[in-house]
Amino acid sequence: MYIRMDQLVRAIAVALDIVEGELLGASTHHGKRIAALSVAMGRYFGMDEEFLTSLATCALFHDSALTEYILSEQRENDPAMKLHCEYGQRNAEAFLLNRDVAGFVLYHHERADGDGPFGKKEGEFPLGAEIIAIADTLDVTHHLQTVSPHALADIRKQIDEETGSRYTKRAAKAMLAVLDADMLSLLRNDRILDTAERIIPPWPVDIEDLSVIRIADLAAHIIDYKSVFTKQHSVQIARKAWRMGEYYGYDKLSKSRLYLAAALHDLGKLAMPTHILEKPGKLTDAEFATIKDHVRFTQEMLKDVTGFERVCAIAAGHHEKLDGTGYHAGKEADEISFDERIVACLDIYQAVSEPRPYHAARSHAETMPILYDMARKGFIDERIVKDLDAVMAVYSGVELPPTFHLAP
Ligand SMILES: [Fe+2]
Ligand SMILES: [Fe+2]
Ligand SMILES: [Fe+2]
Ligand SMILES: [Fe+2]
Repeated sequence: MYIRMDQLVRAIAVALDIVEGELLGASTHHGKRIAALSVAMGRYFGMDEEFLTSLATCALFHDSALTEYILSEQRENDPAMKLHCEYGQRNAEAFLLNRDVAGFVLYHHERADGDGPFGKKEGEFPLGAEIIAIADTLDVTHHLQTVSPHALADIRKQIDEETGSRYTKRAAKAMLAVLDADMLSLLRNDRILDTAERIIPPWPVDIEDLSVIRIADLAAHIIDYKSVFTKQHSVQIARKAWRMGEYYGYDKLSKSRLYLAAALHDLGKLAMPTHILEKPGKLTDAEFATIKDHVRFTQEMLKDVTGFERVCAIAAGHHEKLDGTGYHAGKEADEISFDERIVACLDIYQAVSEPRPYHAARSHAETMPILYDMARKGFIDERIVKDLDAVMAVYSGVELPPTFHLAP
């Protein structure tokens, strides 16, 4: 069973750009513009398609450590800047790319004169990083989505002036070769999604492949780190879902789907304002309506990934209730699959047991009565609640480890 990795990579990159836009006040689509420019420069250097895909993925995710180390982008010389680079590199490598991308993200804030966070000079960091660095700097400085063609001369002049100090010579030369009026038009906000479609060629991967799990894990971390109160939410639900799949005797494909849906179920939360997600106390009706929309966003982001149809359906059903009062589709019991019910139960279990602004962490014994009560009221599946009680009792107060789903 194959999925289109290129489409999944893009879906998560779109989600990431939304967070960056909110957190930094930076223009959205930043990652996609860096990727488009990087691929164009890579072509200028004669890189082959597989190398371009690896480079494009690094470029799309160069700022993926943003939610963990938010302030580093805003204050140069901040020690957190190094962590931003190190975690970004780790995240890019989660994709198990076909080409060696060592240092591509790690050194994306280096300068030719050695004045970057790691003090690497021109020639001491790889071409992939030089490419991402110049694209990144230009986009942050000039907001390339809004540059008019006649402002192009100023940008080119600035590249010239800073070649050898900020930019490496070969990266500057490549950028000057590819940055023209046509390229600028491809980077505009109204065209960038189409442009991004063409950055990475079709890239089929088996859905059970470790790389798919690792990418879902990465997305789960990004989602969870959006708010300190949920920093383990999606990853824990995913690991618990795998455990429930084992309990039900699922084959690897079914377990993988359940895991992926659980990891990605709140992907749409990336598009939700943090101040509402973190609001202590009761939400207003309007705020609750906004938050409910996260399920629709999850579905929107995943629905076009070929091979992910079931995963998308399970993820999008995690707030449905058996009595028909759930959201966002308002499904009736007979329309809600067993896997959707599992993720719905785990979502509640996790939310009730983890610490939140409005309640402390709860043990398994403190959590279960709340789930039984919801089952009694006809909201969630009683059988699954009982199974959850049996399976999770031994993990009370324990976070399931990262390699949990890989254990035999
Ligand atoms: Fe960065
Ligand atoms: Fe960036
Ligand atoms: Fe949710
Ligand atoms: Fe959730």
